[in-house]
Amino acid sequence: MSYIEIRNIFKIFGPTPDTGLSLARGGVNKDEILARTGNTVGLHDVSLSIEQGETFVVMGLSGSGKSTLIRHLNRLIDPTAGQVTFGGEDILAMDIPTLNAFRRKRLGMVFQRFGLLPHRNVIDNVAYGLEIQGVDRSTRQEAAAKWISRVGLAGYESKFPDQLSGGMQQRVGLARALATDPEVLLMDEAFSALDPLIRSDMQDELMKLQEELHKTIVFITHDLDEALKIGDRIAILKDGKLVQVGRPEEIILHPADAYVEAFTRDVNRGRVIRARSIMRPIEDGLPAHDPNYIVDENERLEDIIAKSLSTESPIGVKDTTNGIVGLIERHRIVEIITPTSP
Ligand SMILES: Nc1ncnc2c1ncn2[C@@H]1O[C@H](COP(=O)(O)OP(=O)(O)OP(=O)(O)O)[C@@H](O)[C@H]1O
Ligand SMILES: [Mg+2]
Repeated sequence: MSYIEIRNIFKIFGPTPDTGLSLARGGVNKDEILARTGNTVGLHDVSLSIEQGETFVVMGLSGSGKSTLIRHLNRLIDPTAGQVTFGGEDILAMDIPTLNAFRRKRLGMVFQRFGLLPHRNVIDNVAYGLEIQGVDRSTRQEAAAKWISRVGLAGYESKFPDQLSGGMQQRVGLARALATDPEVLLMDEAFSALDPLIRSDMQDELMKLQEELHKTIVFITHDLDEALKIGDRIAILKDGKLVQVGRPEEIILHPADAYVEAFTRDVNRGRVIRARSIMRPIEDGLPAHDPNYIVDENERLEDIIAKSLSTESPIGVKDTTNGIVGLIERHRIVEIITPTSP
């Protein structure tokens, strides 16, 4: 069993959720349910397994159900039907005190609009979660200072939120979420309000932290480039339904349907696709291969293209033990960079 299990969740908003639920189960679509009953289908039979330590991205267009899904993980909303478990524990069965303790100790949240307390300085904002947990002042100030420095804000401890740029405020938001050492970070469009360059910095920062921390991160975005960059796996929602779940390369190389294909069409494939997922595997190694034309299995397609331009021979792909495990021929590269519609 995975760390977070979401099982057959339906969420129907509106006056008669049970009626909406039976129609949804009967295969009636979202628009028709709304027209006939005034109920909105938020999520339709969504099941997902999220592993401990992975960065799991949920993406989809506006209204596809992303926020509704993440709100089921902290139980800000209860499903109309279905189950949610964390480490085997049914969070829908928790009473209020247990649920509050679960949220405080095991979850960290980072919001799109930062959600900082305006009258508290940076260190007191970051220490807030620990304060709620009843941790004494000197311990929490020490922990907060450590996290402030980890997110690159040492020296800003006594500034107030309105004295910081948006990117800096979101670093405070991230430090605050991490200060309680949660198992899971929930991030709903956390970087979407930031300027592109700052946003890219924050993505890098998060990935760098994650390399050391191995938190379970559920990250929501409507930006495919962001999803492909930071996600170990990506789930794509459409009209409340799960359309596809997979690694970034799987999503790009094997889109589940025309909707995903349309999403992925303009992606910079060279940056996302790695050697191992496009190579033709070979069993027995190679007798001899020009060392100039060998790439690591994690090499990006853009770098492989650069190498392949100066040779007619296939590019060899080596694994961590330096054995040649596959070949990439020129025609394969052409095929990958010029996709045809399914
Ligand atoms: N509290 C609510 N009451 C009624 N309908 C709701 C409520 N919350 C969400 N919905 C509906 O559920 C669907 C999914 O909404 P949700 O907010 O989860 O989308 P989203 O993918 O997060 O969109 P965005 O990218 O705009 O944030 C939408 O049709 C929305 O109108
Ligand atoms: Mg949303």
